Amino acid sequence: MTTLKHCPGYPSPFAALVDKSVVTAYPNDKFRVEWGPIFHRGRLDGTAQVLCIGQDPAAHETFVRRILVGEAGQRVQGFLKKIGITRHYVMINASLYSEYGSGAAITNHVESSPDVAAERAPWIAAILAPKKVKLVLLFGGQAKACWTNYTAAHGGAPAGGAVVELAHPTSDSYGADGPQKLVDSWNNALKLIEPAPFHDVTPDFTQYAVATYTAQVTEIPDFDLPAGLPTWMRALDTWAVRPDPAKVPDPSPPTPYKRAHLLVTVPATEIP
Ligand code: URA
Repeated sequence: MTTLKHCPGYPSPFAALVDKSVVTAYPNDKFRVEWGPIFHRGRLDGTAQVLCIGQDPAAHETFVRRILVGEAGQRVQGFLKKIGITRHYVMINASLYSEYGSGAAITNHVESSPDVAAERAPWIAAILAPKKVKLVLLFGGQAKACWTNYTAAHGGAPAGGAVVELAHPTSDSYGADGPQKLVDSWNNALKLIEPAPFHDVTPDFTQYAVATYTAQVTEIPDFDLPAGLPTWMRALDTWAVRPDPAKVPDPSPPTPYKRAHLLVTVPATEIP
């Protein structure tokens, strides 16, 4: 029998942050508040050396209650492995809730709302408090704004550390040159980080290439996810989607359908 490890949850001071009601910063016309907040992934025990900030949780994250576990998360995991980190990281998003729709109104809200900044600040402060974080990775514009809002109000760039901006891991889907832009951005980040002082594994600073970057993903480790989740939920294949009603034989209420439903499919190989 395989022994799976699991994420132990929320120690102090994060337990109090999790218990606090935070929904007021996230209006329900812009966020899927009905699916609940999704807080983090990675180490909250003061051992994280790298802080990653992403954008907002999507379908896989909503189901497993940890952020950055789907395609975007597996690309980030691959990047971390390249710089030598497979355990000593922690991740949060610029938005605690999944964003509903896309566009300037949502981006502006996440980037400019004092309530969002005030809600995110204690998380960042608590992550930085042990003074172990030596690198902050900002994936996309919302992450950059999240970090800038925090440091403008609280200071707190890691002493002797670096803050590196990268394109969002799934920004390659925007425009024909999206893949090239993503690869260029992540390659530039590798150059800024090398040589990295991280040694969970031997770093490999080989540059990304447009032809192969989509394969440079890494599975989410068991110790990042809540107890009891089956192995296939950490795997590289897509298993959760917000279903398109046009593709569902008998879409049932409530509507809007996509907002109200999450379709989880167990891989055929896992059915006994
Ligand atoms: N999932 C997340 O949790 N964050 C992102 O930025 C993208 C996908």
